[in-house]
Amino acid sequence: MNNYSDENDRFLDSESVPEEYKHEVLLRPNDFSEYVGQKKVVQNVDVMVESAKIRKSAMDHALLSGPPGLGKTSLAMIIAKSIGSELHVISGPAIEKKGDLAAILTNLNPRDVLFIDEIHRMHISVEEILYSAMEDYRLDIVIGQGPSARTMQIQIAPFTLIGATTRSGLLSNPLRDRFMAHLHFDFYHHDELAEIVGNNSKKLNVTLDKNALEMIAKCARGTPRIANRILRRVRDFSLVQGEHLISEESVKKSLALMEIDSFGLDRMDRKILQVIEDYYKGGPVGIETLCATLAEDRTTIEDVYEPYLLKEGFLLRTPRGREISQKSKDHLIKIGSIK
Ligand SMILES: Nc1ncnc2c1ncn2[C@@H]1O[C@H](COP(=O)(O)OP(=O)(O)O)[C@@H](O)[C@H]1O
Ligand SMILES: [Mg+2]
Repeated sequence: MNNYSDENDRFLDSESVPEEYKHEVLLRPNDFSEYVGQKKVVQNVDVMVESAKIRKSAMDHALLSGPPGLGKTSLAMIIAKSIGSELHVISGPAIEKKGDLAAILTNLNPRDVLFIDEIHRMHISVEEILYSAMEDYRLDIVIGQGPSARTMQIQIAPFTLIGATTRSGLLSNPLRDRFMAHLHFDFYHHDELAEIVGNNSKKLNVTLDKNALEMIAKCARGTPRIANRILRRVRDFSLVQGEHLISEESVKKSLALMEIDSFGLDRMDRKILQVIEDYYKGGPVGIETLCATLAEDRTTIEDVYEPYLLKEGFLLRTPRGREISQKSKDHLIKIGSIK
């Protein structure tokens, strides 16, 4: 997996938009009709949006949680568009001072949507500003220090906060409780990914044969962002080869270049399984020890890699740590990593 992360959403209003991000904008679903899958989430959101329209007031606050690349930012954009209000995007950890968040909140217009990405990584002192803002559309600002300190209250416009997080468990209780809706994103099914790849191939002006399309959907780790990434690489590969109808063979070659295997696992996924096998006899091994051996940041392993490995049964979580399954061992043998 490359370094592209959710944090790039910060570039939304910037001139210096990275190349991959430009593509991401092109491939974003524009409205609910283009937003594939996540049926439960969409049904909930649909009712909330319609209710806000009837009430002619702000939609309730919603918390979107789930692994990266599953459509949280895209959904926030569609919500703002369908209630006809402006979307303001900020990244939680990027706000350093209370005053910065207060300035953003006081500049909102009625019914605007404020999207805070990685909301679980917001500084606690900044986060506290949100409590009264979410509950009563009011800011409680303390002016001065010590005995002369006093609280000033500022009324703000009724707005909607949409928080996105890869780990809802890391949110503080007071913040979590203030979200009316908690919406969890799951990995996409194969046929949903196939539909997304089909739609996006049109946007990119490429034609795939059926098997090629199926292959991309199968190897995308249940994640639309990864499907898009593979699709673009396949497009590049075929352009260079001068191929008009993209074949399964070209997809296989592109996947090999990207070091993605037939289960959709990438180099890091395999390294995690391999390290547990080689260094810890298949586990169990504690997460801290595992991350130290991998020389990887714990958050990256837990948020980006583990969810899919756990879901697909490659990795098992036990009270004594992480273990690899027989399925992993069979896979490592098949690809020649275990003799
Ligand atoms: N439900 C969906 N339908 C179609 N495309 C999607 C969907 N969810 C995500 N995508 C694609 O994946 C990309 C990444 O999604 P994004 O909303 O940025 O994910 P997140 O914010 O959860 O990390 C989008 O640009 C879009 O092309
Ligand atoms: Mg995002």
